[in-house]
Amino acid sequence: MPSRKIFVDACFGKETPYTPVWMMRQAGRYLPEYMKVRAKAGDFLNLCHDPKAAAAVTIQPLDIVGVDAAILFTDILVIPDEMGMDLSFVKGEGPKFSDPLTSQADLDRLIGGDEAASKLTYVFDTIKILRKELDERGDNIALIGFAGAPWTLATYMIEGQGTKTYNICKKMMYSNPELLHNILREVTEVLKLYLEKQIQAGVDVVQIFDSWAAAIEVDNYDEFSWSYMVEIAEYIKAKYPHIPIIMFPKGIPAFYDKVYGNFDVFGIDWATPMEYAKEKLGDKYVLQGNMEPCRLYSKEQTTVSVEKIQKVMNGKRHIFNLGHGILPDIPVENAKHFVSECQRVSKK
Ligand code: CP3
Repeated sequence: MPSRKIFVDACFGKETPYTPVWMMRQAGRYLPEYMKVRAKAGDFLNLCHDPKAAAAVTIQPLDIVGVDAAILFTDILVIPDEMGMDLSFVKGEGPKFSDPLTSQADLDRLIGGDEAASKLTYVFDTIKILRKELDERGDNIALIGFAGAPWTLATYMIEGQGTKTYNICKKMMYSNPELLHNILREVTEVLKLYLEKQIQAGVDVVQIFDSWAAAIEVDNYDEFSWSYMVEIAEYIKAKYPHIPIIMFPKGIPAFYDKVYGNFDVFGIDWATPMEYAKEKLGDKYVLQGNMEPCRLYSKEQTTVSVEKIQKVMNGKRHIFNLGHGILPDIPVENAKHFVSECQRVSKK
């Protein structure tokens, strides 16, 4: 049975010959081959804007580490960039927006809806190249498209950069919640169309990353994040029921009792025990995850973790992954070891 089918089947909770595996941030700086392509492109954003180069780095982890799915190479922050916010990546400091949102007037100046989503042609062109290439290879690897959750995108749009305290967006949350909701609504509308266009260009699966979910009080999480993610999922499901949807809200185990919505796979972060996740969500959703990414520094510790996760999930309704992105200083051979161990322990 070809792997593309395996990955899609696994997302829908069907029986598969082994549990498929991929890694968040699998295309990236731990691969010398990635660094070469990035150097040639000049910088990270140029690489995102160059469909041939972006497609090439998307393929790298398939050939080098042997994962069962490819994740489109781009970034969640291209959305606010194309909505009219000026994105740059400052060396050693991460992403920056020069003009963060502080008022309704700032939001009104942004480009919304189909006009913004249509500007992402370089992403759709990357997908078209990948679709063709993956089909030609005939190894039936699934292609995962993705977007950031409205909340996670809003944190960058409001703070202007990454943050430890989220104080600027929380000030807005508690003193001007209407403005925050207006921002979230505007981003949600663009994301629905953006993911739809990714599907039309050829992705097999979509994942929504809510990396900064844990910054919100659990009692407020539905209002400021989850409900918007579910709205996007409902929009996609209504039109493309054959496309699995993966939700990854990082670090909110206290919300698991309240999870609802029409999607297929729930991503578990590394700090949440898989037993707990299985008990709360395993009957409703396929679970993805969740090895602590730093275990990749040790092959032995990787094996211990993979075996433990396998013991809990037992090859049913599960996709192997890390519990967050792979770090740049992980040895490539350890990443390979993780992938082959997942495939070994789950083989039926
Ligand atoms: O997973 C993949 O291999 C696909 C590509 C991908 C990237 N970013 C490429 C990237 C994906 C899925 C993302 C998602 C993303 N981007 C998230 C959500 C996932 C997560 O990790 O929580 C977030 C929060 C971002 C925002 C972002 N992009 C940050 C904070 C940074 C800088 C931090 C860092 O790692 O340097 C980026 C840059 C970025 N996005 C890089 C890559 C490969 C590194 C750029 C480089 O120097 O080459």
